[in-house]
Amino acid sequence: MREMIKVALPKGRLYPMAAAAFARVSLGCPELLNPMRKLTYTDAEGGMEYLFVKPGDVPAYVEYGAADMGVTGKDTLLEEGRDLSEAMDMGFGRCRVVVAGLCGQKGRYDGIYGKRIATKYPNIAKRFFESVKGESVEVIRLSGSIELAPLAGLADAVIDLVDTGETLRENGMEVYETVAAVSARLVVNGVSMKMKGRRVKEIIARLGGGQ
Ligand code: PRP
Repeated sequence: MREMIKVALPKGRLYPMAAAAFARVSLGCPELLNPMRKLTYTDAEGGMEYLFVKPGDVPAYVEYGAADMGVTGKDTLLEEGRDLSEAMDMGFGRCRVVVAGLCGQKGRYDGIYGKRIATKYPNIAKRFFESVKGESVEVIRLSGSIELAPLAGLADAVIDLVDTGETLRENGMEVYETVAAVSARLVVNGVSMKMKGRRVKEIIARLGGGQ
């Protein structure tokens, strides 16, 4: 029997593209494209086992070796700061991490000392303001609907993902500064890279990476 490779796939907006990429590697497996409420799926013939996890949890599964590899956004990797080898840019999920706030308020924002920043990326926010800009800020951690914070008077600005820009437009907000360009990445466990190197490299090649 083939050596099994465990892959952590991110539920949420990256899932359809990540699943389609691995469905090609696994030669078919329609179950991967519609996992319903299942948490794992085994493609015994292809020697693959898939774990369906929250995008922010992918780095932990891969770092601890519960998965040999995983797909997650570069935003998550920047936030988690774990010791993982990034094997390839998957070429989808391209968007930006930005500082955004109310339209026409950038001047006011620039003048605030000790800005309040709402975000689901507290580490990225601290690093950007404190290390890159040399500015001390108060970071308010939220778990979703981040753009509501400036509208409701909770924060002076947000650090969040902007993809189409629709959420900002719909809510009278604009980008103040770009923090990072991000996309989906394939990360690989260091031990798996050594112990299962041949298969890991073969999968990376079939996903279109490794040149
Ligand atoms: C993300 C992000 C923005 C939005 C950006 O939120 O946090 O709110 O998408 O996309 P857009 O530029 O295409 O409008 P998500 O939909 O993941 O939900 P959340 O508010 O629960 O984080």
